Amino acid sequence: MTTYSLRKGAADKTKCDVVVAGVVKGKKGLEMATGGEGVASAYGRKLQPLLSTLGFDGKPGEVAKIPTNGTLKSPLLLLVGLGDSAKVTHETVRRAAGAAARAVSNAASVALALPAEDADHVRAVADGYLLGAYAFTAFKSGPAPDTAGEVVILSDAARQKEAAAALETAKVVAAATMLTRDWVNTPPGDFTPEKFAAAVTAARKDRKSAKVTLKVTDEKTLEAEGYGGIIGVGRGSANPPRLVQLTYKPRGAKVHLALVGKGITYDSGGLSIKPAASMTTMKCDMAGAASVVAATLAIAELGLPIAVTTYAPMAENMVSGSATRPGDVLTMYGGKTVEVLNTDAEGRLVLADAIVRAREDKPDLIVDVATLTGACVVALGDRVAGVLGNDDELIASVKDAGSRVGEAFWPLPIPDEMGEKVKSNTKIADLAQHNSERWGGTLYAAAFLREFVGETKWAHLDIAGPAFNDKGAYGYVTPGGTGMSVATLVELADTLSRR
Ligand code: BES
Ligand code: MN
Ligand code: ZN
Repeated sequence: MTTYSLRKGAADKTKCDVVVAGVVKGKKGLEMATGGEGVASAYGRKLQPLLSTLGFDGKPGEVAKIPTNGTLKSPLLLLVGLGDSAKVTHETVRRAAGAAARAVSNAASVALALPAEDADHVRAVADGYLLGAYAFTAFKSGPAPDTAGEVVILSDAARQKEAAAALETAKVVAAATMLTRDWVNTPPGDFTPEKFAAAVTAARKDRKSAKVTLKVTDEKTLEAEGYGGIIGVGRGSANPPRLVQLTYKPRGAKVHLALVGKGITYDSGGLSIKPAASMTTMKCDMAGAASVVAATLAIAELGLPIAVTTYAPMAENMVSGSATRPGDVLTMYGGKTVEVLNTDAEGRLVLADAIVRAREDKPDLIVDVATLTGACVVALGDRVAGVLGNDDELIASVKDAGSRVGEAFWPLPIPDEMGEKVKSNTKIADLAQHNSERWGGTLYAAAFLREFVGETKWAHLDIAGPAFNDKGAYGYVTPGGTGMSVATLVELADTLSRR
């Protein structure tokens, strides 16, 4: 376990195994960033030529390790680039801290002399370092890798209570993000709906979230209560579905937020089976459910004054003689009928049931999170999530909350014609689950979900791209599950609770 603390101190006078400092590109070449002034004075005029010989450009995320040989109190200096001094934002600092965390190896103590002059910057440094240091080693043989025992954030604001609170928030939110990463990274055979539900139960206990109540509904009860979407998607699998419900109701809460997350523990596509290459990362298809659950636990742990009810429908989308067929009609929770036309568009079916159930609690707002459509990845790439819904103010709040915590959301529309097609594309049921036309798949999926939200204010977060990093690490994002959306949900809940 690594402990994180906050202290006032100079980069050159702090004794740790490694001291981390930032470098910016200023008007007169490379300069030490805020927090690294001690390094600049200790090296004096030798710093510039040293960096130049190293070929260090100060590009964002670039790192260089320099043995200090007595120049500083710490034996190793780790420099990390922050780019143009005029363009440094909280996100630049967060990413640099993440890059530094990934570059540190075998150090029992690390001092971070990065820009941490106020509480917001303390949050950014802590966020970045905590998340960048993440590794998923549960399925590796051999001893677990060494992780730093002590990380000290050097900050002039160390004695302000806002700075201490920022560090606490960072720890809670990063832990929730990393819990999401763990769950997404766990192989799908080890994370069936039943096991996912058990993991949520255990997480609630571990985090001593006594203020959060939990209910797990099994397949028999789901069937009996008419959850046709969840049952319809899960029926092809030997591992039956579950619906997990979390409730957090602090005294005096004025706003009630409902969260719903897609929990497909594996998406083979069902009978409308996916090509082999599209299937390899489909353990990530429960990222929405993982995010809403982890965010709820974090909101409770932080004691935010907002009521939250959370629904995580969990099912495995598989192929078998009992699987739902393209052409079948499902009766959803609440009674609407849906003609299934492509079993690979399964997420909207489990979400629809859960959204209707969530509405029974009479929330003020519903936010759903899902790895819903490949079309969203085509539109926005793999680092930006889509946000759609029926309330422009809520959509803007999601986007703004995201930008404060380093998660990018971009609004997409639900045009009228998509709303029409959802009804007209079927001749025999109330709604058509899938559009026969290829274009605008993200918009169609949202138009379908909108049929189930009624008058409640609602935002839909399509995280199909950013939920999973199938490439190398960058900034504080490690390979595999990213936990994207957890920080935004907590930030959004915080904003809503202050209204
Ligand atoms: N889980 C997928 C979406 C997805 C794609 C998530 C890529 C992460 C990365 C979803 O269930 C799906 O299969 N969507 C189909 C919808 C289509 C059949 C309308 C898709 O995007 O192709
Ligand atoms: Mn699918
Ligand atoms: Zn899916």
